[in-house]
Amino acid sequence: MTHRVILDCDPGVDDCIALLVALGASDRIELQSICVVAGNVPVDVCARNALGILALAGRGHVPVYSGCERPLRVEPSFAEHIHGRSGLGDATLPAAISTLEPANAVDHLCSAFGAAEPQSITLVITGPMTNFATALQRDPSIKAAVRDVVIMGGASEAGGNITPFAEFNIYADPDAAKTVLESGCRTTLIGLDATLQFRCTPSRMQRLTQADHAASLTSADMIAHVNRVYGEVYGAEGAALHDPCTVGYLLAPELFDTREVAIDVDCSTGDTRGQTRIHAPGEVDGLPVINWVTGVRDTALFDLIVTEMERL
Ligand code: RIB
Ligand code: CA
Repeated sequence: MTHRVILDCDPGVDDCIALLVALGASDRIELQSICVVAGNVPVDVCARNALGILALAGRGHVPVYSGCERPLRVEPSFAEHIHGRSGLGDATLPAAISTLEPANAVDHLCSAFGAAEPQSITLVITGPMTNFATALQRDPSIKAAVRDVVIMGGASEAGGNITPFAEFNIYADPDAAKTVLESGCRTTLIGLDATLQFRCTPSRMQRLTQADHAASLTSADMIAHVNRVYGEVYGAEGAALHDPCTVGYLLAPELFDTREVAIDVDCSTGDTRGQTRIHAPGEVDGLPVINWVTGVRDTALFDLIVTEMERL
């Protein structure tokens, strides 16, 4: 099946890899557009990185829209300590071969979904959900055109990564996460419980560094920086490849374990801000029910993402 996709991201190292996989799998993913949002790095840096990935992939025809530069309510949080100030770790990307679209990403989301057939577009979100939340607030009817929303975000048993309680994409804009998760769109949330199982181990890093392909070599340069940080900050061997899990889920859902849950997002300003609390459906009244990913076949997924991005 071919997925018609809009990818909303905050590139960021793992966002860049998710983009390369989506662009490589062009026989099954029709990447209609890319939206960027402030997250790992400021939105203008995200926009520059998205254009650089398109240049690396030779896909300058994919439109890029710059979006929200700050969350709905809370103060902006960035993750430059993980991704570097460039958002690309140690990598440099080719000069852009295209330019940003003049429209804002929120306007684009409203017009693209507003003009689309019912349940025809899959939205992948790999950063804070500010753009789509703002679009939904402006025109709730756009959700009719959403086939699926596949999001990297949240954490339950795994605990948080930006605080002990919260995963970064939710923490960065908890109000937007709550708005999107309560929207009624068919939603799959891939949180740290699953993505922390998907790491760039030394043998996988070797596969990338020994490749004769720019996408893999550039990915290795990006990940090398995050690997060092993971070692220093988390004492872990191998960075987790969070965002590629979303595109991998579209391409091979059989590699993932999922279950239906009711989810509650903590929008307080206290220590548990951004925590995502998972319940059995119906256990707590009034909570949205979503598809929660609990596990991944990491070996097969790594082979898949490398194969797809090396098709570029
Ligand atoms: O917590 C991991 C998520 O936060 C990933 O999307 C990463 O790119 C950062 O945005
Ligand atoms: Ca991201």
